[in-house]
Amino acid sequence: MSDKEISGVGAYVVHDSAHKHVTGEAVYTDDLPELPNCLHTWVVTSPHAHAKIKSINIKRAESFEGVEAVLSAKDILGTNDVGPIFPNEPVLAEELVEYVGQPVVIIAAQTRELAREASHLVKVEYEILTPILDVREALEKKHFVAEPHSLQIGDSKKALANAANRLQGEIDLGGQDHFYLEGQICVAHPLEDDDMKVYSSTQHPAEVQKMVARFLNLAKHSVVVEVRRMGGGFGGKETQPANIACMAALLANKTKKSVKLRLGRDEDMIITGKRHDFYFTYDVGYTNEGEITGIELNLASKCGHVADLSTSILDRALFFSDSVYYLKDATINGFPCKTHTVSNTAFRGFGGPQGSFIIEEVIDVISNKLKKNPHEVRKLNYYGTEDRNVTPYHQTIEDNIIHEITDQLEVSSDYQKRYDEIREYNKNNKYYKKGISFVPTKFGVSFTTAFLNQAGALIHIYADGSIHLNHGGTEMGQGLFTKVAQVVASEFQVDLSRVKITATTTEKVPNTSATAASSGSDLNGMAAQNGAQKLKRRLIKFAAEKYEVDQSSVTFKNNMVYAGDNEISFNALVGEAYFARVSLSATGFYKTPKIYYDRSTSKGRPFFYYTYGACVAEVLLDTLTGECKVTRADILHDVGASLSPNIDMGQIEGGFVQGMGWLTNEELKWDDKGSLRTHAPSTYKIPVSRDIPDVFNVEILKNHKCKEETIYSSKAVGEPPFMHGMAVWHAIKDAIKSHGNYEKEVKLNAPATPEEILRALDSM
Ligand code: MTE
Ligand code: HPA
Repeated sequence: MSDKEISGVGAYVVHDSAHKHVTGEAVYTDDLPELPNCLHTWVVTSPHAHAKIKSINIKRAESFEGVEAVLSAKDILGTNDVGPIFPNEPVLAEELVEYVGQPVVIIAAQTRELAREASHLVKVEYEILTPILDVREALEKKHFVAEPHSLQIGDSKKALANAANRLQGEIDLGGQDHFYLEGQICVAHPLEDDDMKVYSSTQHPAEVQKMVARFLNLAKHSVVVEVRRMGGGFGGKETQPANIACMAALLANKTKKSVKLRLGRDEDMIITGKRHDFYFTYDVGYTNEGEITGIELNLASKCGHVADLSTSILDRALFFSDSVYYLKDATINGFPCKTHTVSNTAFRGFGGPQGSFIIEEVIDVISNKLKKNPHEVRKLNYYGTEDRNVTPYHQTIEDNIIHEITDQLEVSSDYQKRYDEIREYNKNNKYYKKGISFVPTKFGVSFTTAFLNQAGALIHIYADGSIHLNHGGTEMGQGLFTKVAQVVASEFQVDLSRVKITATTTEKVPNTSATAASSGSDLNGMAAQNGAQKLKRRLIKFAAEKYEVDQSSVTFKNNMVYAGDNEISFNALVGEAYFARVSLSATGFYKTPKIYYDRSTSKGRPFFYYTYGACVAEVLLDTLTGECKVTRADILHDVGASLSPNIDMGQIEGGFVQGMGWLTNEELKWDDKGSLRTHAPSTYKIPVSRDIPDVFNVEILKNHKCKEETIYSSKAVGEPPFMHGMAVWHAIKDAIKSHGNYEKEVKLNAPATPEEILRALDSM
């Protein structure tokens, strides 16, 4: 058996917790044994989208039996601010509420039911103000959470004026709820000297630590945050858990008891942020063949009441609005619109899918005008490999493989034949229509804020040879812990079972970045490798001295160490090293090289490298009901040299399905007062097992390595496959086009719910 087959990098291992997820044995924050007298909570929220708080009366709630604390902003010990980039983002509203669902008062009681009952006794008097709920209104009034930002290359004005053909348009794109299976939750245990231990379902323990410390007026060293795993995060647990943790920690500080704050599904969906909706306009010039010669894009994002990560998200939307297409003369403007709705936040792709969505729409509209297959127009506009390779943010693309992916997928999906057959089918069928699309993707990898691209790890080898691995990354189901353990097992050439995966805690690795931007394994894998290599060097030196051989002749293989002609088990060598007083603990560190971005000039190299992929989707549409089924999807996806093929396949499949949900069934409906009307699975429809395509061919691009020096030449995989959901939306649009014999224009907004599809069909 080769090392690969045992358990190291590249092996087909299963997720370390897969069996526990399935049997229900995996321990989530809510499953941790509660301390005696643990209190439970309820959050009193604003019923208004925009109002002044005139008074808060908590007297009756405070004296309700079983209630132990009723707190509002005036009780905060430190700073009432969890803004990750900009200040003044309150946890508890002070004088103003700015969305329906904004926390105003928090209650701790002996049970959650008692806290909830007491919440009805809290009386808040409001003076209602006029809200801005719509992104277009905010855009018109220049009601922004931060300054707009633009990318520019060439001269789009001149190019548009000289274009052979030119068209303008607009489109709306909806948001998305994360719908992680485990909702937001925190348990705060007060310790001596007002210190606080926080168990939080968070992608960003260091941020929770920072915000809780600030909220309680403590130094960071007084707050410890721990998370073993999340039941999904998808970006929704990058900043949002800080609010939850601050509330729980304040209640724990005041009552000196352990406090659990767990939001129910409805509260979670109402109180916490989601994917940004966008409103786009475009002006594009193109040749008679369909090549884009000049373009101006305007991206207005609905940020909600505060900035949160909206500026970085909008930056990424701008960076991704070229997708795989060369835009020589382009101006791309981003407007971060402030609305009186919940503050939108990170969500898988972080604005990237929204950016790529608009350029795909533009290409589709051009194809329609020219009566050409959109796939041909797409290929005509692809970035080159040697030239035509500079992005609107002036990064030169050095690793373009979209042509190779396209060629392979055209053959493996039998694209052209099926395209022709579908045209034939549609001629012969009146009510059922089929559609097909071929949508390529490119995904820039790195946090676009350069300093975030760093990671740390801590590795101990115990005297029996067992290895304790800790790093700053968090596990949310994506398999990061398994991958990093594979890296460490590979370094020491030992079985994966010898590497103990442990909970992420701010006590072991400090000052970490969020597990986000798909860079979890790139960053933490490298940091863990760095730590493991330090230890390995110490063991090599020890073995060389012990056996009196040259260090270069010491090798590790199959749980053994070879030193010249001597062989010893890894365990035995470690045991002897311990007696010889060799330090068996090391930290590791990594920072991504080559990346920078200057926002003042909108130029730089924000991405270390790109991943690529493409999806061919086929749908069957019932034009009488607007219902649609994805009958087949073929995906070819680039992960470099896969660290863990099983896990990567799961990410590709899951990413596609989540992307498809965003653009089809998942619809956030708000009423005219700014209340979210779809805040439970009864009204908010995520994809379920029957929505998986009947034929689902997913392939990892073979024999490919990342050109940059990444961990074992692998590439990030967490977010990029989300983009493939776009192929479904375009296949639906293709099916709708057939209703008008491919002659008429189709105006379809996203998501393409049955209602939206019927509207589009009716308007043709
Ligand atoms: N996969 C599962 N099962 N659950 C998740 O919450 N989050 C996604 C992706 N895949 C997520 C997931 C998001 S938003 C990101 S950024 C990456 O995983 C983060 O993990 P990585 O950087 O280790 O790939
Ligand atoms: N991607 C994902 N999450 C982030 C980023 C980013 O670029 N910046 C801050 N959080």
